[in-house]
Amino acid sequence: MDIPQGHVVRVVGESGTGKTTLLRLLMRFWDPQKGTVEISNTNICDINSACLRANEAFMSQDTYVFHASLRDNIKVAKLDASAEELEAAISAAALQEVIERLPQGLDTMLGTGEAQLSEGERQRMGLARAFLHNAAFMILDEPTSNLDALNEAAILYSLAANTQGKTILLASHRPTMAAISDISISLS
Ligand SMILES: Nc1ncnc2c1ncn2[C@@H]1O[C@H](COP(=O)(O)OP(=O)(O)OP(=O)(O)O)[C@@H](O)[C@H]1O
Ligand SMILES: [Mg+2]
Repeated sequence: MDIPQGHVVRVVGESGTGKTTLLRLLMRFWDPQKGTVEISNTNICDINSACLRANEAFMSQDTYVFHASLRDNIKVAKLDASAEELEAAISAAALQEVIERLPQGLDTMLGTGEAQLSEGERQRMGLARAFLHNAAFMILDEPTSNLDALNEAAILYSLAANTQGKTILLASHRPTMAAISDISISLS
């Protein structure tokens, strides 16, 4: 399959057909046993890992929460992010109202025994990380699966507004994702 640069490509398919596996191969979490994965006509096995990571933003299906503040949890995507960059990522991921509800806002500690985020809130935190990383190639695994219609609409709007110069590959069952996708690829 080809993922043309500058397009939004959606991967659909029933559970277990390999959507997440495909996305992870592009991140080089594993090397393929058969075939090759190429980016800009270069086999990713020949691309330096730091360079590959700099150019790819990956949002996994489960967003990991570190025992740290919400601010630091988002900034793992870009440790030296400025306050403006952080603000923009939070806004793009529709996370602002979550922060306003937390006792210490962005400084609220997350993790075991501390403030907990709901699945949908964690997912928006994962999206904020992806937006903050601001890579040319965004790889999103079920980015809105746990969100209600209102928050999903906010995310769709942000993704559509951030596609300039970006290539976005997303795995999603949601028919709503078709609205922002140029191409759909079905796995079976
Ligand atoms: N780490 C792994 N090692 C071996 N097999 C795996 C591993 N991860 C997933 N699989 C298997 O590979 C197949 C594809 O899994 P994958 O997670 O890519 O599916 P998916 O299309 O993303 O499904 P879903 O819609 O449920 O997220 C499944 O049969 C799964 O059991
Ligand atoms: Mg999956």
